[in-house]
Amino acid sequence: MDCMVLQGGRRLTGEVSISGAKNAALPILASILLGKGTSTLTSVPAVRDVLTMSKVLTHLGASVEARGDRYTITLPGVASCQAPYELVKTMRASVLALGPLLARWGEAIVALPGGCAIGARPINLHLAALEKMGAEIRIEHGNVHACVRGRLKSARINFDIPTVTGTENVMMAASLAEGTTVLENAASEPEVSDLASFLIKRGARISGAGTDVITIDGVPELRGADHEIVPDRVETGTYLIAGAITGGEVRVVRCRPDHCDALLAKLQEAGVALKVEKEAIQVRAGGPLRAVDVKTLPYPGFPTDMQAQMMALMALARGSSVITETVFESRFLHVLELQRMGADIRIEGNHSVVTGVERLSGAPVMASDLRASACLILAGLAAEGETRVSRVYHLDRGYERLDAKLAGLGAQVRREAERV
Ligand code: EPU
Repeated sequence: MDCMVLQGGRRLTGEVSISGAKNAALPILASILLGKGTSTLTSVPAVRDVLTMSKVLTHLGASVEARGDRYTITLPGVASCQAPYELVKTMRASVLALGPLLARWGEAIVALPGGCAIGARPINLHLAALEKMGAEIRIEHGNVHACVRGRLKSARINFDIPTVTGTENVMMAASLAEGTTVLENAASEPEVSDLASFLIKRGARISGAGTDVITIDGVPELRGADHEIVPDRVETGTYLIAGAITGGEVRVVRCRPDHCDALLAKLQEAGVALKVEKEAIQVRAGGPLRAVDVKTLPYPGFPTDMQAQMMALMALARGSSVITETVFESRFLHVLELQRMGADIRIEGNHSVVTGVERLSGAPVMASDLRASACLILAGLAAEGETRVSRVYHLDRGYERLDAKLAGLGAQVRREAERV
């Protein structure tokens, strides 16, 4: 197991290029199961979760050829309708195989993902929607068994909560269903829209993606298509904060500023100087950082996937900020680690009250999930002395070459085998 060792206090400067979004690549890869034919995907990020999804696809019968960020995938037919627990337990997003397998091949057996560090994360809304579309679903021996005779039928689905992967799963299934399916209170994240664009290129008839009402006219089959994965807005935000927290000057290129509005507004409110171009954002630390309150919400609200990183920034701002997490119930595991670095943070229910301190001090800390790891790396970049972040396999799940990209901006960072 590796850990990341940082010597804090370096101003980051220079340019960093953003990779394709993990959370767009995963559903797009899963959607390959919706039809035969060959698709070519570019800007596929080199992160562990993508490799896991490729393994799921290969296990199910696809041939996946990866050359750098270019994936050519062919599905001659499925060899199995079962996504095994060994793969699913390492990545919840494997549940995205459920909708496509069921809609195209009439059967899906996907291990229930189980618990997760950031909250309970049930998939009841995915299952209820698919049942409404005619699937028979039972849970046995830790697996979800779903089957349907013939095609799924259309339905009007009103999600209790705008679930991202739930919307994606049902949108994929509805692409091949009989009739017109309407998804209300759907997730409007850019990753949902990117999946919809790919499906439309393959012949799906989808309108409204990017809003909270998505209409899907089912078609009998989908073909292969070429697609470039949208840039990762969470990676973008993480590097913007890396620039701001080190008092540096960083230009983040090959990104989609229009997908980062809520974060950019908060950074500006906190006194961070930003120059926004069409596909780039320049960040420059202005005067002292000011505390700002943040509340996570579904898109276009402030993303829960940037909450931990924003907290690292607020730990060094002037004044107190209240960070409220409304999407996941226990996404504050990074707080205890930040406290080990000298941060002044108090948790009250789903609020964290962060009172900025003059400086953080480097310490050995432990990553608990992907974004918590990014938060600790950011804190380590700004802290005095050495920070050792263990369990960086969490980071490898979702950030492409984070250590190399940070080193390219002048950070003193190295990866080491963990001492036991
Ligand atoms: N929820 C239910 N029932 C469901 C589905 C969701 O109660 O059937 C609840 C969840 O427990 C949560 C809320 O609804 O409280 C929203 O969860 P959502 O389903 O939107 O999350 P997700 O689809 O499992 C995706 C991302 C997450 C990101 C969230 C929120 C992917 C592969 N994952 O998860 O990304 O935090 O949306 O934006 O797209 C990450 O990249 O680090 C990450 C965790």
